[in-house]
Amino acid sequence: MSQLQIQRLMRPHLVTPEAYATAVSPDEMAAKAGVSPDMIIRLNQNENPFGAAPEIAAALIDLPLHLYPDPNQSKIREALAEYTGHPAEQILAGAGSDELIDLLMRLFVAPGDRVLDCKPTFGMYHFCARIADAEVVSVPRDDAFEVDVEAIAREDDERTKIVFLASPNNPTGNILPEEQALRLLKLGLVIVVDETYFEFSGQTVDHLVPEHENLVVLRSFSKWAGIAGLRVGYMIASPEIVNRLVDIKNPYNVNVAAEAALLATMRHRDKLLQRVEVLLEQRRRMEKAFDSMDGVSYVPSHANFLLTRFDDHLATDMYEALVRKGVFVRPFSDPRLSHHLRISVGTPDQTSRVLDVLSELV
Ligand SMILES: Cc1ncc(COP(=O)(O)O)c(C=O)c1O
Repeated sequence: MSQLQIQRLMRPHLVTPEAYATAVSPDEMAAKAGVSPDMIIRLNQNENPFGAAPEIAAALIDLPLHLYPDPNQSKIREALAEYTGHPAEQILAGAGSDELIDLLMRLFVAPGDRVLDCKPTFGMYHFCARIADAEVVSVPRDDAFEVDVEAIAREDDERTKIVFLASPNNPTGNILPEEQALRLLKLGLVIVVDETYFEFSGQTVDHLVPEHENLVVLRSFSKWAGIAGLRVGYMIASPEIVNRLVDIKNPYNVNVAAEAALLATMRHRDKLLQRVEVLLEQRRRMEKAFDSMDGVSYVPSHANFLLTRFDDHLATDMYEALVRKGVFVRPFSDPRLSHHLRISVGTPDQTSRVLDVLSELV
């Protein structure tokens, strides 16, 4: 069968590829920097630079790998209920918050429906909406990267289903104020507040869930708990939404290693939250250093990254200079962010490396 014949069988809206702009692979990074892969410093995906804690790695030994995981996620949901203070029936875990974004599309979005997000923001909302054959309406954030609630309200029509709002937002790091969330909830759409960076910000709207059946709060273990590779995320939402998602999810969506890691994270959370404190300290250190540099500014952040703005050609120079030292940060194709780099907060040594490169340039 030829490529053209295969394409005729495909869903028409997926024939033209539109690859998700993922970061380059570690091997590509190493080749670009001219160093071995283990020398690369990844400050481009907001990962946890300390790696997984040994206690979590130890929990992955001797797992019943030949058995399917629990489709009802009973232990997971109980542990998360204890952690979040919400009853287990308001909680559902997924293979990262990414999977939960996709599941929400499956539940609510039919072809031709409209999905709203607020640019610049996390790319997966657009990615999953495209697969669902939805129309994505990106309502631009204002000059301070705050959400424009009135503009969102103006976009609402009978085909609009979901609004995705990250808080802290990636890549800008700012929070969605609660009063804005409340105004948006009144629209009667599904309002998804993506709190993937919650442990860094300490700010949440989860207490609004019991009163608002249309609110979904997303969380993740990728960043603060350092297990991005195992894919663990969860949502807090009304039992109505959770039960419907249980009905349509892949039964074994959270694998046994992910489950064991999640439960171990809950047991050792004090230690992992201490690492969060160290990262917040390193973010403050970067902010302080940037404050004293000409031509460098940043968006105040509540997360483990800093959206940094450079005057003139400094962003490109900085990116290239960092690559030469084996350090990768995140540049953007969005013209609004052409002078920006998103720098994930690293270990104290990694932060020193970034600041050394920058002070040589400025
Ligand atoms: C705002 C936001 N939501 C969700 C995710 C994905 O998280 P997970 O690894 O849990 O799928 C990310 C990852 O960068 C993110 O920045």
